[in-house]
Amino acid sequence: MTDKTSNQMWGGRFAAGPDAIMEAINASIGFDKRMAAQDIAGSRAHAAMLAATGVITDSDAEAIREGLLTVLSEIEGGSFVFSTALEDIHMNVEARLKEVIGEPAGRLHTARSRNDQVATDFKLWVRDQFDAAEQGLLALIRALLGQAEAGADWVMPGFTHLQTAQPVTWGHHMMAYVEMFGRDLSRVRDARARMNESPLGSAALAGTSFPIDRHMTAAALGFDRPTANSLDAVSDRDFALEFLSVASICAMHLSRFAEELVIWSSAQFRFVILSDRFSTGSSIMPQKKNPDAAELIRAKVGRIFGANTALMMVMKGLPLAYSKDMQEDKEQVFDAADNWMLALAAMEGMVRDMTANRPSLAAAAGSGFSTATDLADWLVRVLGLPFRDAHHVTGSLVALAEKKGCDLPDLSLDEMQSAHAGITADVYGVLGVENSVNSRQSYGGTAPAQVRAQIARWKEMLA
Ligand code: ARG
Repeated sequence: MTDKTSNQMWGGRFAAGPDAIMEAINASIGFDKRMAAQDIAGSRAHAAMLAATGVITDSDAEAIREGLLTVLSEIEGGSFVFSTALEDIHMNVEARLKEVIGEPAGRLHTARSRNDQVATDFKLWVRDQFDAAEQGLLALIRALLGQAEAGADWVMPGFTHLQTAQPVTWGHHMMAYVEMFGRDLSRVRDARARMNESPLGSAALAGTSFPIDRHMTAAALGFDRPTANSLDAVSDRDFALEFLSVASICAMHLSRFAEELVIWSSAQFRFVILSDRFSTGSSIMPQKKNPDAAELIRAKVGRIFGANTALMMVMKGLPLAYSKDMQEDKEQVFDAADNWMLALAAMEGMVRDMTANRPSLAAAAGSGFSTATDLADWLVRVLGLPFRDAHHVTGSLVALAEKKGCDLPDLSLDEMQSAHAGITADVYGVLGVENSVNSRQSYGGTAPAQVRAQIARWKEMLA
């Protein structure tokens, strides 16, 4: 006789129910209830297939499929009572199905196991998140294209080491992020395509002796095909790791951009004005407008990359096939996904709403000897100097300007000629910032014409 306190799903060989601590460490229902819709979709596909292959009757399958819809509406409506004793979403759903439809519910779990069930549910959940990330990235890319188009020829300083390097255009800087988020988008699409194989029907680990049709359930659930090895199918979590690593790289990109927005919105830079909708105030300093959204986006990479590391550590060293360790996959992925989507949406909103401060950008673009390279290039092109010599001559002029406390175009022709006798008044033509950016016509360069060509290419790709 089975003790009434033993588990109603697997308690046949148990004389007593679990200790409360056992139940607490074992149960996943607190978090895996987020996969309820995926669990029910998987079970409905499985039941239809069991009927089509003659493993259960059509009427039992019909009762199961209808009953599962009732359970789903209870969950969605908030009236479903989740039970920790029933461990996880799979057994909570099945137990309630039994209450709703009675005996046929017991036939649903034929030719499957929670091992292939959880792998299927989790894949469906992660796949939805890849799709959400794709949409979030597309929206962000469109917002960046809007900024780039408006300011394709606005000059600003380009930096290396966060020191003024050469003038660039606002459009060029925005398009740099379009390229990064574009690669993130392609990683999302690659990983989604790679993961889209159905584990369902792999059963516990070895497959099943029932004459199931895995191609049928795969197609019903939108998978491209069934997985080819049942041991792999129930133990694979690399789809989740790929999700987390794609998310980590994207979060790193978001963090870099967020850092720039924090710097740019400071009173010392004033390159951008963030909208009130994406800033906060200080409770003590009335003048403050803080870039909190950018700061939080900057921080999100920490928890997302942390999730990636955590799951990698959970999976390393696990023998085939399923081990309960793998239940630790979900909270990491859920948290990372929530925060990734939020960060994408917040960044999109911030980019859409922000205003570039064109006069500040232009003033900064001309300071810091930003056209020194243009001067050196002129010495090479017009006077035929070897670049190394031109570099040296220009360096001495920068030192002179620095000593005088002026910019390069403020040096007199006499002063210019003191560094190299051959310099003529023509040199002033290349010291202007606009000329500098216009001259950088190499493919992918900062010239407005190049930037506009890249914007057009992206718009065509997104159309
Ligand atoms: N809650 C479990 C998980 O998330 C479901 C699979 C349980 N399988 C098992 N053999 N105990 O991993």
